[in-house]
This record gives sequence, structure tokens and C-alpha cells, in this order.
Amino acid sequence: MDTVTSLLDSIADVGRDPGRGGYTRPVYSAAERDLRAWFTEQAGRRGLAVETDRNGILWAWWGEPQRGALVTGSHLDSVPGGGAFDGPLGVASALVAVDLLKARGVQPNRSLAVTVFPEEEGSRFGVACLGSRLLTGAIDADRARNLKDDDGNSLADVARINGLDPQHLGRDEDALGRIGDFVELHVEQGRGLGEDGPAVAVGSSILGHGRWKLSICGQGNHAGTTLMEDRRDPMVAAAQVVLAVKQVAAQTKDARATVGRLQPVPGGTNVIASRVDLWLDVRHPQDEVTAQLVEAIHGKAQKIAAFEGCQATLAEESFSGTVHFDAALQRQVQNALPGAPVLPTGAGHDAGVLAGFVPSAMVFVKNPTGISHSPEEHVEDADADAGAGALADVLEALL
Ligand code: GLV
Ligand code: MN
Ligand code: MN
Ligand code: MN
Repeated sequence: MDTVTSLLDSIADVGRDPGRGGYTRPVYSAAERDLRAWFTEQAGRRGLAVETDRNGILWAWWGEPQRGALVTGSHLDSVPGGGAFDGPLGVASALVAVDLLKARGVQPNRSLAVTVFPEEEGSRFGVACLGSRLLTGAIDADRARNLKDDDGNSLADVARINGLDPQHLGRDEDALGRIGDFVELHVEQGRGLGEDGPAVAVGSSILGHGRWKLSICGQGNHAGTTLMEDRRDPMVAAAQVVLAVKQVAAQTKDARATVGRLQPVPGGTNVIASRVDLWLDVRHPQDEVTAQLVEAIHGKAQKIAAFEGCQATLAEESFSGTVHFDAALQRQVQNALPGAPVLPTGAGHDAGVLAGFVPSAMVFVKNPTGISHSPEEHVEDADADAGAGALADVLEALL
């Protein structure tokens, strides 16, 4: 029988990024398509019938597709230079859990589907959990169709190339109705289980989080001929904004704010940029505090930009309020995993988007490094096995 580790080993070469380290598997890239093909093959080997819905979500069915099914799964796309576990651990564990349930002779009272959601990380089109947002209608379909990747390709075009009808992207009542309960297993992404803690935990909540694009416009010019006092350099403003982001967040308990991506335009060594785009990721347990943090950062950015002869504008790209998972389902998951600690997470997940529409729950597997969105993310083989076993226990209790 496959183990989670043997399954992950079988995709260990897909989407490796020697430059950044780790994996770069953007949605609908060659690497992510290879992973989808791998999933389809693995599901087929288990006798699960795979279908792709109109938003590009893969569903592998044990039993007939039906309303109110039990659904588990995660994603196969990654951040740039990500680890091996964020996403694939949940998918591989779901496949192994199906094997375990069959080996246990479990006779399900309802169908079970294993799902793979596209663009969970939002690394290509900027909006995290895009697949689950489309499925639920949490994002406007027109807006989604017009999202662009860094090469200017729209989601509509990329969807079409990948066999989807762009006009059919968006809320899918039939597919959504098939989710009676959703359970996502995921690598723990902080120090929630420490180095010596138990292998698995039950999720309680997801920190509210969002993304904003801040554009600082100045005057593009020549690095050699433009005197320092004549410059309107948005990069100089951007540097101060990054410091202000840290300062604002550091002054607010439980706040996290990050500038992980910054793009000077046009981006030449001997060119004073005409514009710098930077992306803000802001998170806090109270949604009104998140809004205040963003407002404070925006205010500081405008002042900094004005001082440098530039202009700053801010646009929201996505926001998800703090989510508390369904109490009844969480209790059932806890009952199936006696003694497992209950943990909140600061990371976003499709389970968080789905929680607004259907009962959803999460199981976390220990990450001894406490590091994620990095090649250093790690799960020990024994903990991965324990995770799949725990997921099987949860699914068996719910089937
Ligand atoms: C996704 O992993 C996120 O939390 O940003
Ligand atoms: Mn992630
Ligand atoms: Mn993830
Ligand atoms: Mn995530």
C-alpha cells in the first residue's frame, strides 16, 4: 500500500525550482498540470472516478457523485519556492485515507470525494483560494475572468487553454451542493505543535487576512544624469513604506503585515523607476482591526510618497474575514481524534472559504521546523502516516 511519503516521493521532481530552492508550481503551469495528471492517475488506480468541474476543481469519487457527500482534499499549486507539503500533503493523505478505509472494510453511508482546488495560493492570479471562491461565488465571476498573471494572460484565456469554458466560471450550485461536510488536512505552518508535540491537531479558526496592491508613482529617469535633489523616486518611498508596515503591525497585538513582493517598473539597474508596485498581506483576528491597520499603512504611504514627490494608491485584491470552523463538525473531528490539541492558524485555506457555505473542518500535521512557504517546511514520515491515519479516523466517523 502507498504511504503518504511514497506518494509525495513520486512527485518530488515535479516543479522543482533550483534557483529559489523548493518548488514553484503555479496553477496551470506545466508542473501543476503534471500534478493534476498524477492525481487523476492515482485516483484511477483506486477506482475513484475523476471529474473536473466548471471551475477546474478536480473531484475523485468513491461512490456516485451525490448531494451532501463527505469531501476532503487540498491543493497542488505552490507559492514561488515553496515546500513539498503545503497542499500536496492534504491530497496525498486523502488518497491514503481512502486506501485505509477500504482496508478497514468501511462501508460508507454516503459518497466520499477527494478534491484538488486550483490556485489556492493566489501565486499566479493574485487571489488566494480562487477555486473555492469561484465555486462558492465568493468572487465575482467577471472580476475573476479578468484577473491577469504577470505575463498579462487573463484567467479567462488560461481557463480556455486548459479546457474550461470561461463563461461557465463562477458559482456552481450543483458542485457546492455535493459538499455535505468538508475536511482539509494540511501541514501545520507555524510552531503550533512545536518539535515535540503530538503528530496532529484539530483546526479551530483561520485568522482574517487580505491582500492589497499599493502603487507608488514617481518620475522615471536616468540614474546618471538626474541629480539627487531632482528625483521623484518611488523606490525610495517604497523602502520607507516597507519600514512603516513593520512599525504599524509591531504596535498592534496579534497583527501580521508583510511586503513579500515588490516590483519596480520598468526595473533597470540604471533606471530610476517610474512606479513601484508592492503587495501587502495583512492579518488580524478582528476584521475591523485589519481594516484599521490597512488604513494606517495607506495614510503613512501617502505621506511618505508625497515627501518623495510621488503618489501612492491602494487597491484591495482580496479579503477573508476571520473564520471559526463549524462547532458541531469540529466536535465530531475532536471525538475522532481524542487528545489532539485544538489550534487556530494564521494561514488561509480553501476550508476557510468553504466554511462560509458548508460545515468545514481542518486537521493539521506537525511541522517540526515551524517554517512554511519555504523549502524548509517539513513533515516527518511517521507524522505523515499518523496524519493519514487520523484523517481516515475522521472520515470513517463522518461517512
Ligand atoms: C496561503 O497559504 C496563505 O495563508 O497565504
Ligand atoms: Mn500556502
Ligand atoms: Mn496550503
Ligand atoms: Mn494556504
